[in-house]
Amino acid sequence: MCGIIGYSGPLEAGSILLGGLSQLEYRGYDSAGIAYFDTSSKVHVVKKTGKVARLKETVEVMKASSHCGMGHTRWATHGGVSDENAHPHRAGRVTLIHNGIIENYHSLTQEFHLESQLISQTDSEVAAWVLESFYSGDPKEAIRKLAERMDGAYGFCIMFDDHPGEIYAIRNVSPLVAAYTPSGALIASDLTALIPYTKRYFVVPEQHIVKLTGYKISVFDLDGARVMPEMLEINWNMDAAMKNGFPHFMLKEIHEQPEAMKNTILPRMTKGLPDFTDDGIPDQLFEDCREIHMIACGTAMHAGMVAKALMEPVLRIPVTVSIASEFRYEDPLVDEGTLVIIISQSGETIDTLAALGLAKSYGAKTLAIVNVKGSTIARESDYVLYTHAGPEIAVASTKAYSVQLAALYMISCRMSLVRGKFTREQAEAFLTGLLDAIPAMETMIERQLEEKHLAAHLIQQHDTFFIGRGLDYAFSLEGALKLKEISYIHADAYAAGELKHGTIALISQDVPVIAIATQEHVFAKMISNVREVKARGAFVILLTKEHVQIDEGLADIHIKIPHLDDRFTVFPIAVILQLIAYYASVGKNLDVDQPRNLAKSVTVE
Ligand code: AGP
Repeated sequence: MCGIIGYSGPLEAGSILLGGLSQLEYRGYDSAGIAYFDTSSKVHVVKKTGKVARLKETVEVMKASSHCGMGHTRWATHGGVSDENAHPHRAGRVTLIHNGIIENYHSLTQEFHLESQLISQTDSEVAAWVLESFYSGDPKEAIRKLAERMDGAYGFCIMFDDHPGEIYAIRNVSPLVAAYTPSGALIASDLTALIPYTKRYFVVPEQHIVKLTGYKISVFDLDGARVMPEMLEINWNMDAAMKNGFPHFMLKEIHEQPEAMKNTILPRMTKGLPDFTDDGIPDQLFEDCREIHMIACGTAMHAGMVAKALMEPVLRIPVTVSIASEFRYEDPLVDEGTLVIIISQSGETIDTLAALGLAKSYGAKTLAIVNVKGSTIARESDYVLYTHAGPEIAVASTKAYSVQLAALYMISCRMSLVRGKFTREQAEAFLTGLLDAIPAMETMIERQLEEKHLAAHLIQQHDTFFIGRGLDYAFSLEGALKLKEISYIHADAYAAGELKHGTIALISQDVPVIAIATQEHVFAKMISNVREVKARGAFVILLTKEHVQIDEGLADIHIKIPHLDDRFTVFPIAVILQLIAYYASVGKNLDVDQPRNLAKSVTVE
């Protein structure tokens, strides 16, 4: 959550900071602010509630010139949305921006007698004052002392009044990446802010101090020794982080799914079989485990639910899916015989990261499916399988979900092969089936007709229900989440047979029920469940494979996907569900890419 950017260099800092904040805005968009040294080395702070566009208007009016500064876009945690709570925070000679949560801010407030000084309600301002109290002219020394006293997650960027042209930074858990580029030195909470300037960057090591000046970046450990960070290469281009003619990032990312699927699958295919040699993932990992435990949040957790429904019947070992925020406080049943699969687009979701740590402490082997290269989860797992979706900017996850599934499907196939559950021919056929899902996704992306029509109906209603059985139920969980988060329509997903144990009481005239019926072995049962809701007046949207015969009047809208093996219908169905949510949000004239109260990366509990 919260976007951070810092710059020192020959160019005009204002436009670099504001441009960077626009790129980072998806991380948080309650308020935004910048701090900069002017040409006479005086520090100025401008901050405003609302989006970066609002901050831009104010900064442009000021027409300030600067070559060093830092900016922040906020997702409120401690303290409401107000100008005072926006970052940067000033504390004596210190100016500070923060991403994360300081857990011991209350006791620090008392210990350092800050009650009367604080202007905001934020934990970040407390950190700024604690730093000021440690500061006696040596920034690194003061930051080292600050780090000793901070409990919690933080990425700080700091300016000291008497060190013009310099930005200092330190992180614990919360991400920071940095680069020295021909345009100057840059630091940011994620790569999207760096890609206009460079392809080479480094992940700021935890508990290391970074110093940016106009001509270099230096990294120090807490004892003051210089450290050379490992340089990494960005494999996205600028286009990947732009809308490229699409009205919203979400729609662009829905369209990018077939390509993202190919990028994730094809490099891992050898002679028609999944092959993770280049990822450094040994078959032994799949052969040895007694059970699988998937851990994730939100959409990533829903990908795990699909994988469970896919894997358990073939592998015949227990597959459990846990919500990371629950798992991390449990005494979980995992041990050396468990393969823990961690799923995360960002690789920085704090609950998922904590769950990974707990699973490791119980001796489990950990394999992470992550989209963002070099992210904390990727680095802390025993093995990592990167998805190649490119940057996902819209808060609602779309292409990341599809490629997480693709990765999980490949793991399932490889595991079935090495455990003798699939013959070579069956594994090849499985992979062919997975590849066949890509043109089916393309077909659904091109059509989009029914979804627009359907969205017009949905937005008249307060509730929507998604029902399905088996794999279809697992898909419906994601459909409901998508609709809720961007259209603000209440939506719930139910195993179709469960509806009559309570929820059917909510079905009345015109309540939309989106029924997914792509699984042949339960198709007849699903149709019975559809009849039950239809009999109570529901507005039924039925999703099936093509060539399926249904009785007239059973569905108000019938959306058909191309014929596929049952195991792969999730891919075109995901496209339909994403488009339904998208057009519902557009129809309500909402902020599709940055829905209220949300942020892209959830780096706080
Ligand atoms: C869904 O659209 C959301 N973006 C959200 O549920 C997300 O999937 C979740 O926060 C997990 O994020 P991660 O994949 O980056 O860990």
